[in-house]
Amino acid sequence: MSTTGTSSFVVVANRLPVDRVSTADGTTTWRRSPGGLVTALAPVMRAYDGAWVGWTGSPDDAPEPFSTDDMDLVPVPLSAEEIALYYEGFSNATLWPLYHDVIVQPEYHREWWDAYRAVNQRFARAAAEVAAENAVVFIQDYQLQLVPRLLRELRPDLKIGFFLHIPFPPTELFAQLPWRRQILEGLLGADLVGFQRAGAASNFESLAETFASARLVDESLVLDDGREVLARSFPISIQVEEVARLAADPEVQQRAATIREEVGSPRYILLGVDRLDYTKGIGHRLKAFGELLAEDAITPEEAVLVQVATPSRERVEAYQTLRDDVELAVGRINGDYGRIGHPAVHYLHSSYDRSELVSLLLAADVMVVTPLRDGMNLVAKEYVSARADLRGALVLSEFAGAADELGEGAFLVNPHDIDGMKRTMLTAMRLEPAEAEQRMKLLRDRVTSHDISRWATEILTALRAI
Ligand code: ADP
Ligand code: G6P
Repeated sequence: MSTTGTSSFVVVANRLPVDRVSTADGTTTWRRSPGGLVTALAPVMRAYDGAWVGWTGSPDDAPEPFSTDDMDLVPVPLSAEEIALYYEGFSNATLWPLYHDVIVQPEYHREWWDAYRAVNQRFARAAAEVAAENAVVFIQDYQLQLVPRLLRELRPDLKIGFFLHIPFPPTELFAQLPWRRQILEGLLGADLVGFQRAGAASNFESLAETFASARLVDESLVLDDGREVLARSFPISIQVEEVARLAADPEVQQRAATIREEVGSPRYILLGVDRLDYTKGIGHRLKAFGELLAEDAITPEEAVLVQVATPSRERVEAYQTLRDDVELAVGRINGDYGRIGHPAVHYLHSSYDRSELVSLLLAADVMVVTPLRDGMNLVAKEYVSARADLRGALVLSEFAGAADELGEGAFLVNPHDIDGMKRTMLTAMRLEPAEAEQRMKLLRDRVTSHDISRWATEILTALRAI
């Protein structure tokens, strides 16, 4: 057993929840980073006064452990080669496409797997060093699926939870993975394995029975040594209060009004906010919007689409191809239907601070969230939280985890059905205020009563109860 540390709650995630900011005098500070994972866990970290083990995001960057924003941060270094093999390779060109329904073909390379194993081992060692005796360790996401088992080997005293933020695929897809047994055994090192949707938890249970000699007895998976592992869904959420507070801020509201003017005061603003990722269905959305313009169902004076596409994983080939495809589609639509000073699509390839993001949410009449597959989709929940005015409509893909909870108030769509999406976008634009209000109430009831602190309490209570 390695020596123990002092933290009684440890989060282990691929990324630290901060970005490095260089100041004019050459010194470095850290600022909380955007992204679903960070948005979700930062408040929990603060509440539990824990340590967070993760990578800074830069190659060969291993500052000593430090504290910021009330969190103890423990950096794990990755070399440039490991970033290429473990992060861009196995995590984002093998697991990400495999777990998202093979929208893009996953690549299987033994070198990438070797790097994934080695890096998972490093994260497990770092966690073992900071965790106090009998600590709770909470491991995040697909980049670190081997850590539960590796950590248990180093520190059998720990209580280990794992949460997968992305979908977990059915047997027909998962079975492609040459290292399927090792991944399942890695996850089975945890006491509790959490998923976004119930279907993902049952996919995991049947795969663990098929490929990893676990047996499902009552609600638990029982392993050969008699240890039990619980697999369950815990749909993640957002910090509702943070979004609501920003949405109530007069400056944020004024900025929303200015945004409306800046895009030409159209009757309808449709909004998409996504990482530029092929899972998000941005191309399908553009196709539907472009066809509505082509058929004169809407005019560019009447409706504009604002599409925020956050730069993401830019060295991975499929993301480069996607960027080209999306930008070509935006260029075509604007070339065909835009006029000087009046593009039909306002395309923004950039990151924004939270207040600007909430201003965009307030400016939007229709929020279009149309992923081909998504673990949850926090943007859908953020839109709902921002709309205390009970206006606006949410068009939501049935392939987003959020559809389980928001199906009643949202307009559900199949993003592959372009005609269906066009009809639904028109319906959402032309919604009567009374129905909009009724739907938004339903949506807000769900999101307000199931925020991120409830998620954290439920999953950590379930873990502690084991
Ligand atoms: P994913 O985790 O796949 O990126 P989610 O919708 O679950 O998708 O979470 C994305 C998070 O990142 C949300 O909290 C959203 O507000 C934030 N976000 C997305 N795009 C931007 C952007 N351009 N600027 C700032 N924050 C963004
Ligand atoms: C999704 C994943 C996270 C990941 C985030 C940003 O939300 O579930 O694990 O951190 O995307 O992706 P990146 O590759 O930039 O960390």
